[in-house]
Amino acid sequence: NPPNLQMGEGSILEQANCRAKGGAPGFKVAILGAAGGIGQPLALLMKMNPLVSVLHLYDVVNAPGVTADISHMDTGAVVRGFLGQPQLESALTGMDLVVIPAGVPRKPGMTRDDLFKINAGIVKTLCEGIAKCCPNAIVNLISNPVNSTVPIAAEVFKKAGTYDPKRLLGVTMLDVVRANTFVAEVLGLDPREVSVPVVGGHAGVTILPLLSQVKPPCSFTSEETEYLTKRIQDGGTEVVQAKAGAGSATLSMAYAAVKFADACLRGLRGDAGITECAFVASQVTELPFFATRVRLGRAGAEEVYQLGPLNEYERVGLESAKKELAASIEKGISFIRK
Ligand code: NAD
Ligand code: LMR
Repeated sequence: NPPNLQMGEGSILEQANCRAKGGAPGFKVAILGAAGGIGQPLALLMKMNPLVSVLHLYDVVNAPGVTADISHMDTGAVVRGFLGQPQLESALTGMDLVVIPAGVPRKPGMTRDDLFKINAGIVKTLCEGIAKCCPNAIVNLISNPVNSTVPIAAEVFKKAGTYDPKRLLGVTMLDVVRANTFVAEVLGLDPREVSVPVVGGHAGVTILPLLSQVKPPCSFTSEETEYLTKRIQDGGTEVVQAKAGAGSATLSMAYAAVKFADACLRGLRGDAGITECAFVASQVTELPFFATRVRLGRAGAEEVYQLGPLNEYERVGLESAKKELAASIEKGISFIRK
């Protein structure tokens, strides 16, 4: 018989993986949507992360190929692949962190909300699996529209009786990554030295960079503020248009997702002082969810920070952001409640 290179118990891949490491210390991470545009480079980067001991790659297509490929990398994490709904529970069982980039991306002319119809159902099904198989895992939700998919996930977990707001994080890291890059360009600095808080949500005007709180401290002209705010808010659309129908940001997103997942894992390990921006359950505004800086620890987002002082431009931006966010959050909640 030819070697069984497919997934599952007894397969050559599984046997090789079991031999490879006698249980290196680290965390168990699952990627749902691992064969996609984000999923593949995300899997590659997670396989390189020394905090990861086991990496589960789940998708409804092509998971065996991506798994075989990634599993040849001579890094510590043991990689296992899972294909299709019948293998979802095995993919999720025992996971510490679940990263979700499953779902359809935008094409030119579409808003992120146009993805709701398809992605809402995908996120619902995946979160039902998480509630059943790894209810204590930290969830990093990437699938758009994040402003609605996070409320959907929260409602699914509430229904299942497993909801812990600290463990559900909408990934807005790409907005921060873009903001650091674009601001550094204007200031003539290395982007690694720049830190821009981006609050609100992850779509258009709900993406609110707080340029008055940039580190290192600096000031911008009103033209620079206008240019930077718009460029950061439209960063996703810039990529969608440049890709001209071939999808949205995948490589920078995989980079941002791994940066964020790594922060979550360092928090889980008990490292002190890990803070990043994320879209979480929040009492910072009157809305039930909002992105701000959070402190990541063993329990997930252990502390949600206040907005800090805003200038007039940001106060006006905050009002527009909240108006759109309220509708997107409500849409997500009603999708499950009705
Ligand atoms: P893609 O189409 O290249 O990949 C999506 C993958 O999801 C595919 O492999 C597909 O088979 C898989 N999938 C579909 N249904 C599934 C299911 N039920 N279970 C498991 N996997 C399933 O898309 P992409 O470019 O990787 O983008 C994925 C999502 O991420 C999109 O919704 C996109 O809008 C979003 N995104 C979010 C951010 C952010 O900042 N949060 C950034 C970029 C993209
Ligand atoms: C992004 O910001 O790049 C993503 O949300 C994808 C998109 O549709 O813009």
